Amino acid sequence: MTPLTIALTGGSGFIGGQIARMLVARGAHVRALSRTQSGLENGILWIKGTLEDEDSLARLVEGASIVIHCAGAVRGRSARSFQIANVQGSRRVAQAACNSGTCERFLLMSSLAARHPELSWYAKSKHDAEQEVLRVAGTMGITIFRPTAVYGPGDRELRPLFTWLLKGLLVRLGARDSHLSFVHVFDLVAAVAHWLGSPITKSAIYEISDGTLGGYSWKGLAKIAADIRAAPVRSLAISTTVLRTIACANFAISYMVRRAPMLTTSKVNELTHPDWTCSNTAITVATGWIPQIKLRRALQEGLF
Ligand SMILES: NC(=O)c1ccc[n+]([C@@H]2O[C@H](COP(=O)([O-])OP(=O)(O)OC[C@H]3O[C@@H](n4cnc5c(N)ncnc54)[C@H](OP(=O)(O)O)[C@@H]3O)[C@@H](O)[C@H]2O)c1
Repeated sequence: MTPLTIALTGGSGFIGGQIARMLVARGAHVRALSRTQSGLENGILWIKGTLEDEDSLARLVEGASIVIHCAGAVRGRSARSFQIANVQGSRRVAQAACNSGTCERFLLMSSLAARHPELSWYAKSKHDAEQEVLRVAGTMGITIFRPTAVYGPGDRELRPLFTWLLKGLLVRLGARDSHLSFVHVFDLVAAVAHWLGSPITKSAIYEISDGTLGGYSWKGLAKIAADIRAAPVRSLAISTTVLRTIACANFAISYMVRRAPMLTTSKVNELTHPDWTCSNTAITVATGWIPQIKLRRALQEGLF
């Protein structure tokens, strides 16, 4: 059988990097967008370009029957910066895929945050990106993944939280009775693999987590860590007011160090939202995917 040609954006990132490795292992011809490199490396043909450059996107998707759009901004200092990368960028990738005439199915790596566009600049941009991709879909089957917080090898955002937790300190953001959810990057990549092997649907949106019923409470996280450590875990509650103050300082520092900030006052609303639980039922029914890695196991086995 002729190998599939799959175009990927975000292949140099945390999640996209893991997807790229899975695609190569499955024998696909992988073409991946990169802002820095070009040429063949580790079975991936890197196409130099950006989400802003329509010519490079046209080269990226040329001859691809599947396009996986995983690039995106997760940090930014204004609503506009998120709109440019996530909304306009997604529209350009989808338009290029549609124009190629070869793309049958398109996967957008959105976020569970898209469920609440009112919460943050990031959430709104992921929501609007979904709308843009669906708008320019043409004859392509569009699938949208909405993963919750993703962790695993290569992640820099959740790793400190889990490291402190295993050292006996739980840093609690938001309300005491919040419900959080997580998904391991290996499970998310497995979901992409299942999607590749399932029939094309016109359009579908799938929320994705590790399947823990009711999600994780702060107390539940502390309990998991205490069991693994066989020692108590202290809880340090950071109030929303303090978090906002830290966010303001972080915002100012980001100008000085010329780096896009992760923690902004806009992001605080998202971090302190009380319910990030979701259901995997739709994706399991459609693709047969079932997550395998619960947080307890990942922390126990150092899979983060
Ligand atoms: N991590 C999570 O918990 C999580 C949860 C839900 C959804 N998501 C979504 O999953 C996707 C990947 O997230 P991640 O955590 O893997 O982020 P990441 O590690 O920061 O990777 C982002 C990727 O996007 C690329 N990119 C960003 N702006 C670009 C542009 N203008 N042109 C070309 N490439 C660009 C980056 O390229 P460079 O290497 O050149 O910077 C990198 O490859 C994002 O769309 C994010 O919204 C993430």
